[in-house]
Amino acid sequence: MSLSTPPQTIPVLSGLQDDPYTDENLTNPYPLFERMRAAGPAVWLEKYGVLAFAGFEECKEILEDYRTFISSAGVGPKNLHHEPAWRPQGILESDPPVHGPMRAAMAGVISPRGVRSLRARFEEFAEELVDSLIERETFDGVTDLAELFPIRVFGDAVGIPREGREANLLPHGAVNFSSFGPDDERSREFFEKGEPTHRWVMDNCARESLSPDGLGAQIWEFADRGEITSEQAALLVRAMLSAGLDTTVFSIGNTLQALAAHPKQWAGLHANPRLAKFAIDEALRYESPFQSFFRTVATETVFRGIPLAAGAKVLLFMGSANRDVAHWGATANEFMIDRNAGGHLAFGMGIHQCVGQPISRLEMDVLFTAMAKRIKAIELVGAPLPYLHNTLRGWRSLPLRIKAA
Ligand code: HEM
Repeated sequence: MSLSTPPQTIPVLSGLQDDPYTDENLTNPYPLFERMRAAGPAVWLEKYGVLAFAGFEECKEILEDYRTFISSAGVGPKNLHHEPAWRPQGILESDPPVHGPMRAAMAGVISPRGVRSLRARFEEFAEELVDSLIERETFDGVTDLAELFPIRVFGDAVGIPREGREANLLPHGAVNFSSFGPDDERSREFFEKGEPTHRWVMDNCARESLSPDGLGAQIWEFADRGEITSEQAALLVRAMLSAGLDTTVFSIGNTLQALAAHPKQWAGLHANPRLAKFAIDEALRYESPFQSFFRTVATETVFRGIPLAAGAKVLLFMGSANRDVAHWGATANEFMIDRNAGGHLAFGMGIHQCVGQPISRLEMDVLFTAMAKRIKAIELVGAPLPYLHNTLRGWRSLPLRIKAA
């Protein structure tokens, strides 16, 4: 079966001609997601000639079945077993047994103890930042906060030089995530802006560029012990820098926007800053920063009654799974910080589930706890500007005003 031939048993519905990657659908993907889920376990996206899954249970099951739905052929639309990758493949685009040692090195470095040791430094900068925002009262939630915080604390934690971070890391992440969606004009623009950053990032993944006490240097210790190769060590530091920054920037921005648009939820958080952890998970569910990516069928199989050929690509919409009424109930489209949003798919699921999530969670917990304690109210004072990207979901600008407690 060619990639452009729909499996015969799939019900053909009008929604299948829709394009999830138009400006309109990227700005508000939820009506289309709802139609995709209503259409059945999967829909055939005619424009892209690909089978897409938008329901929670389907996405979760596919992610957990790493033997049938593999990553080494790429988590974008290209089959990297047949086409060249735009850069050397790392941990995300690998399968066992290649995946295991790289995952062990990453998990060894991002250990509970390692992450705990970062808290004091994160808290110090969060307090400094909140002081300055309280003094200003009005500011841009993206450039003055969501970008600023991870660029400083995450960059320091990895151990890369401070100079050049802003100019290189954000465009680099945007290219990385563009390769997980269609090759269209939007993606080509991100490539044009981001490709020149590749050299800076790779230079800073080298052992001699990294500060000796950072997470990057600790990855290289695994290479010293022969547990991973030197090439894998550099690719793992690259994975930290390309997968760890934009995602956290967008998560912070999305959480800020959701809280500012729901004043009662902010009031609840201010009254009980311990709810910060729940607010963060709920925001990750409600507006998932990494909306979609692919898997490739390893061997011919039947999934939910749909025959799938070996080599076929399947597209998974986590942003939709996290709004699926069948899983989250009638309030799936509401933002409620006291919801138990645990088990959402914003960090993926299965063997590739985000290995960096404890760091993002710590960054966000520290930041939103500091804000919740000292800020009584937060409001939007202008229209937020969405950041349109084929796989990432976030904001380019969030004009905010805060009231100190
Ligand atoms: C809120 C922020 C973040 C989000 C939403 C996020 C999301 C994700 C998702 C959905 C996956 C799974 C992709 C797949 O299954 O194909 C993933 C994997 C990964 N993430 Fe994150 N991530 C975040 C932060 C981070 C950070 C801070 C780091 C680095 C320290 C990081 C490093 C990685 C790596 C290396 C993988 C691949 C893991 C593997 O293949 O075993 N991420 N992330």
